[in-house]
Amino acid sequence: MLLKRLRLALATGLIGLAVSIGGGVTAQAVDAPSPRVRALLERMTLDEKIGQLNQIPGGRQRALNSRLDAAALERVRRGEIGSFLHVAGAAQIRELQRIAVEESRLGIPLLFGMDVVHGYRTLFPVPLALAASWDPGLMEQTARVAAVEATAAGLNWTFSPMVDIARDPRWGRVVEGPGEDPYLGSILATAQVRGYQGTSLADPGSILATAKHFVGYGAAEGGRDYDSADISDRTLHEVYLPPFYAAASAGAGSMMTAFNDIGGVPLTAHPALVRGLLREQWGYQGLIVSDWNAIPELLNHGVAATPQEAGALALRGGVDMDMAGNLYSAHLKGAVEADPTLLPLLDQAVIAVLTAKERLGLFAAPYARADPAREAAAMLTPEHRALAREAARRSIVLLKNEGDLLPLATTARRIAIIGALAEDANSSLGSWRAQGKVEDVRPLIPALREALPQATFTYAQGYRPEAAPTIAVTAAGEGAQGVREVSDAEALAEAVATANAADLVLLVVGEHFDRSGEARSYTDIGLSAAQDALAAAVLDTGKPVVVILMNGRPLAIPELARRAPAILETWFLGVESGPAIADILTGRASPGGRLPTGFPRASGAAPLTYAHLPTGRPASEDLARDTARYRDQPITPLFAFGHGLSYGRFDYSDLRLSQTEVAPDGRVEISVTVRNTSSVAADEVVQLYVRDPVAAIARPVQELRGFRRVAFAPGEAKRIRFILTPAQVALWSEDGWRITSGEIQVMVGASSADIRARTAFTVTSDGVSAIPAAAIPTSSSEEPVS
Ligand code: NOJ
Repeated sequence: MLLKRLRLALATGLIGLAVSIGGGVTAQAVDAPSPRVRALLERMTLDEKIGQLNQIPGGRQRALNSRLDAAALERVRRGEIGSFLHVAGAAQIRELQRIAVEESRLGIPLLFGMDVVHGYRTLFPVPLALAASWDPGLMEQTARVAAVEATAAGLNWTFSPMVDIARDPRWGRVVEGPGEDPYLGSILATAQVRGYQGTSLADPGSILATAKHFVGYGAAEGGRDYDSADISDRTLHEVYLPPFYAAASAGAGSMMTAFNDIGGVPLTAHPALVRGLLREQWGYQGLIVSDWNAIPELLNHGVAATPQEAGALALRGGVDMDMAGNLYSAHLKGAVEADPTLLPLLDQAVIAVLTAKERLGLFAAPYARADPAREAAAMLTPEHRALAREAARRSIVLLKNEGDLLPLATTARRIAIIGALAEDANSSLGSWRAQGKVEDVRPLIPALREALPQATFTYAQGYRPEAAPTIAVTAAGEGAQGVREVSDAEALAEAVATANAADLVLLVVGEHFDRSGEARSYTDIGLSAAQDALAAAVLDTGKPVVVILMNGRPLAIPELARRAPAILETWFLGVESGPAIADILTGRASPGGRLPTGFPRASGAAPLTYAHLPTGRPASEDLARDTARYRDQPITPLFAFGHGLSYGRFDYSDLRLSQTEVAPDGRVEISVTVRNTSSVAADEVVQLYVRDPVAAIARPVQELRGFRRVAFAPGEAKRIRFILTPAQVALWSEDGWRITSGEIQVMVGASSADIRARTAFTVTSDGVSAIPAAAIPTSSSEEPVS
């Protein structure tokens, strides 16, 4: 019956957002405020209420606290500010908090927010790199250290994790997220929220996490940051929303709405998705903040004619706090006076802000986080550095290793290091570096000298990096505010001579850190012309070449991939970048990272995903047939989702199911034996994919539904078990998640393109589920076998 309704809806095109847009929005966001919050609300004037919804910058991202002038402090005294961002430092924050608590009429403490994204002082690998570790435990630990350091500096709110799924590497913010897959994204979102918020938000070492950007921000058309997204309801619910659901379930204290619109409705004013889906259907109780200046930008979207209208729209849409727009503060009073039906919505927003402050323990202990003594002791401790090294090591992905060129033979005596990124410690920090410092970075060249004392090293830049003077340059190889890469005959000749005089070359290429990140969208995601020329010249020497990639997004590098015998993807790895890369190059550790996003063969092949639909004419290698493919490229990605090689060798066998028939509310155990047949200790990431081969609507050819990173001793074998439920293969419909009867194919392997064993089970009847399928975690376990 339900399936029939679904089919009917599909046939008549009736599938739409489950909650209607427009009038009739009711105030119910934060249920049952605490007695303290209720009592405060009763005492607040309209101005004080609006003040709580106002977040202003106390500085700039790279000049923290620079806007904390007398006027700003006066606004705190008058109760006109609920939160600052871009401030830091225990002493400064303590003083700001003191003014709010002791000198404002109601003494309401402030929220202090910052983009603490991959560490505060101890910078870890960028988020995309951490995602490549496929290690939720590690991500929880790195988030915890970030929280410990940031809170010691007085912060109580981080705008992280970014959980946007991104399938278009032209979009520069790919670097900040979990990659292309909603299941991996959901698991990692949960881990990060846990790490930031700890077991209790009131703990002074815990920080309020923000899942952002709700929602569809990664689907920007053409990969252009901030641009519109045009997403089907199905894709929205099955791909983009699950990580937000996971973050909400893990208790994320806040969410940030996205800059973009979906089908013409900006998320800054989207009652159906924010009030309807997030608040009402999911029951989300946290604080919802706009993105930077996004409320005034509703005028640019063309959905509001006046600032007052924009304020009313955002409030109706469910945005509690205005980040840096100064619009609620200047215009919400007029809006509320003109339309008193906004008043209950305003109260709901204030309740959300006050409740967040209460959950953080700010009323009880407003100064607990701003402790100069703790601040002095907490930063970049040896333990934090050790974790940074471990995280960096576990994030590295070995993309290619022809003839086992890696690990480096101890006999390699003369090693040439070529490429300016090799000494660019600044790039190792990535974007969103909070209080990270270039001098904290342990770069590659000294780390290699230390790791291989018997070898001699020579270095050549190969091209000239120069500061780019202007913003918005367009040629590939020029970062927006970063570095222009200039081919230089002398530098190239020096590189070739250096390579010729060596036994082995480490060629370090990729992109300057400032080429990926916010507003760093590019049409060309290959190497710059200067680096391309360098790579070709070095490969032409005929010396064995190990390419070390440093970059924040998948790169289209087909020539390099074809010609270089070994390629190591090292992203931007943070303060322990050099030693971690040396650990992998020398074989002190085997690479265990796997790609959280596929690499296209050409910029024009984006967007792409392994989890595509089959189509009526599935892509075929046979060009004589007309199929869903580009004619000038092979049908496969350059490197597939989940890909990553190891110094170990793994054999998969004996894939078994606990049963072949499963009721919709049942579960099935999927187990497989994995043996490390090599003589080195190594990690394998065992990946579980599913496919529903025949359904009412076409289903993806593969979807990740489980993984486990497993450490193996030489020769060791382990039985890996996954528990899967039919709800995890449910498909979204207007009426909820549908479990449909029939066959489910199961694939287990080392990547989406390296499936080692297949089986199938049958779901015996239709059923329903309440949770986005990709947000349901698959439990897994491992046990040694002889
Ligand atoms: C804009 C970005 O989109 C968002 O991710 C960030 O948190 C804010 N700026 C604050 O810096």
